[in-house]
Amino acid sequence: MKLFLDTANLDEIRAIKKWGVLSGVTTNPSLLAKEGKDWELQMKEVCAEVDGDVSLETTSEDADEIFEEGVKLASVAPNAVVKVAMTPAGLEAGTRLVGQGIPINVTLTFSPAQAILAAEIGARYVSPFLGRLDDIAADGMHVLNEICDIFDIQGYETRVLASSLRHPMHVVEAARAGADVATMPYDVFTKLVKHPLTESGLEKFLSDWKKLQQELKEGAH
Ligand code: E4P
Repeated sequence: MKLFLDTANLDEIRAIKKWGVLSGVTTNPSLLAKEGKDWELQMKEVCAEVDGDVSLETTSEDADEIFEEGVKLASVAPNAVVKVAMTPAGLEAGTRLVGQGIPINVTLTFSPAQAILAAEIGARYVSPFLGRLDDIAADGMHVLNEICDIFDIQGYETRVLASSLRHPMHVVEAARAGADVATMPYDVFTKLVKHPLTESGLEKFLSDWKKLQQELKEGAH
């Protein structure tokens, strides 16, 4: 399972990129609004920073307008993937974008039925939102499992991009479900690496090592 960062923030991207585990980035209008900058420039800079796909979301509601916007977003960078919402207009525009050879990510997907539609139009990614389902007392992980099973049975090539992940166990369970990609905010990414036994173990190793150096220096051995 590939790991993507769900952000439009360059510092966050640079920090995780250094770990060698960053395969792509997903942005959305809310994340770009959070940066509060010239969004076109921000999109360009994000795409330039990432070695992998970067999802850039359309913000129109009419199919023709989504298509036009998608064509523009695709020209931002060679690694741009156009996000369209799971609506009839989004599917119509998405189909036309795919027809032009433009990769798309069908976002705001909440059910297996919707995910099948994304696969049928040849989307590169479909993004089921787990956390937002959990927020309304539904079972986001169950939906993801169903989508992964269906895609397996049908041999769909559309990649399942587990989204709206809120904590490390969402990531672990998404991997068990067979998601192709997990996208997560920076704070979830940093939580993946943390374990109290790693921290206490390292502290002990380092203090024992320091003690040995001190003893050697004092000629105790
Ligand atoms: C994915 O592409 C979305 O940007 C994202 O995962 C939404 O997550 P949220 O529900 O935490 O806003």
